[in-house]
Amino acid sequence: MAQLWGGRFQKKTDEKVYEFNASIRFDKRLLHEDIEGSKAHVKMLARQDIISEEDRDQILCGLDSIEQDVGKGTLKITDEYEDVHSFVEANLTDRIGEPGKRLHTGRSRNDQVALDMRLYVRSRIEDTDALLRHLLETILHIMEENTDTIMPGFTHLQKAQPVTLAHHMGAYFEMFRRDRSRLYDIHERMNYCPLGSGALAGTTYPLDRDYTAELLGFYGPTVNSMDGVSDRDYLIEYISALSIIMMHLSRFSEEIIIWNTNEYRFIEIDDAFSTGSSIMPQKKNPDIAELVRGKTGRVYGALVQILTTMKGLPLAYNKDMQEDKEMAFDAMDTGDSCIDLFDGMLSTLKFNKDRMLDSARHGYTNATDAADYLVRKGIPFRDAHGIIGRVVLYGIENKKPIDEMTIDELRQFSDAFDEDIYDAVSMKTCVDKRLTTGAPGADAMKEEISLSKDYLNNTPALIHEKELK
Ligand code: ARG
Repeated sequence: MAQLWGGRFQKKTDEKVYEFNASIRFDKRLLHEDIEGSKAHVKMLARQDIISEEDRDQILCGLDSIEQDVGKGTLKITDEYEDVHSFVEANLTDRIGEPGKRLHTGRSRNDQVALDMRLYVRSRIEDTDALLRHLLETILHIMEENTDTIMPGFTHLQKAQPVTLAHHMGAYFEMFRRDRSRLYDIHERMNYCPLGSGALAGTTYPLDRDYTAELLGFYGPTVNSMDGVSDRDYLIEYISALSIIMMHLSRFSEEIIIWNTNEYRFIEIDDAFSTGSSIMPQKKNPDIAELVRGKTGRVYGALVQILTTMKGLPLAYNKDMQEDKEMAFDAMDTGDSCIDLFDGMLSTLKFNKDRMLDSARHGYTNATDAADYLVRKGIPFRDAHGIIGRVVLYGIENKKPIDEMTIDELRQFSDAFDEDIYDAVSMKTCVDKRLTTGAPGADAMKEEISLSKDYLNNTPALIHEKELK
């Protein structure tokens, strides 16, 4: 049991209490952030003449050597330490002696862990953003290749009107673009440094909080020290943004699963991204899409957990807040791996364009356009709707799409039908005529693709303003 406290205690901590209380098992992943934070703190302490330059240099060397040794595997982060902060401080003092004991001057584990989490979350937001950016490139590529790949658009999962694959993909482009903008907002809002908040009420040492904030790439210090140690809003916002990302991925996955069914066969999932059955040799399952859909629940779980953990907490730090880590880390790992895997699956997906077109043609997706045709011939829309409804019923009974009916067949329902009906209800016309901004028509889609390209060119992956010094 290596603890940073104990002076005021007369008995040893109960072993089960020690284990229950310890966080090293999961906060060891904050080692890099803990060391970066300590390095900035110690540089500031020396600059403010709170410790000597010699002590500073020894501490900096010691901290670097700890990180290197852990990296090399020659130093293990074991359960004998309560948390990552104790691990670093104990090892530092073992290595450099007396100066190591000066590291924690003017600092509490409360502002230390608040800083570590913020640095960690900031960098994870950047990772997620880079993955999303790559996914958007994949989607844009599919859009560019498929501006004339006609497919049915659905409402209620019923064939509704013809769209293009580019248009369908464009909807997902928009979702993930908004996800990136949410990450950007969170990154902006959270980029303030809690170090120097102390346990809750600042310190009596003349700390220069602007300087540490600058060293760590923050815009500046947090304004209120009680808020500094007890704020986890940025984490909640990030897990909430991840939950929305997962919701989008899950909807997309659901479509992949449907498109992959024997009944649809709109797509072929690459062998490298699908799995087989142990008993049914013919099976090729969309496991990645199913797992992404399934793991969505796990990320939502983390969001509800952190919200619930925080909801009753009085100011300032409470040990409950140690529970901000395990499920949150799991949500981050889950979210990032889902984006990455989904991207891989999507970029290797083959689209069965003939099946898609056929499905649109045989689903009466041009019925609205047929009614609009009659309107152009002078028939009121409500009547036209009724006529085409009867045409569709006839088509279903006789297994014929509208464009395969003869003019005589059509004229049973209205004299207004002429030879030009065939062009008016061809799938290509139905799509091309949809020219309103945001619609699947060729010109509108060209505009959408060009906007999407500009967006990607103008929004490089998110990275904090200043590299850590
Ligand atoms: N392991 C703790 C956490 O993750 C570090 C802060 C401990 N502070 C305290 N006053 N016990 O929250």
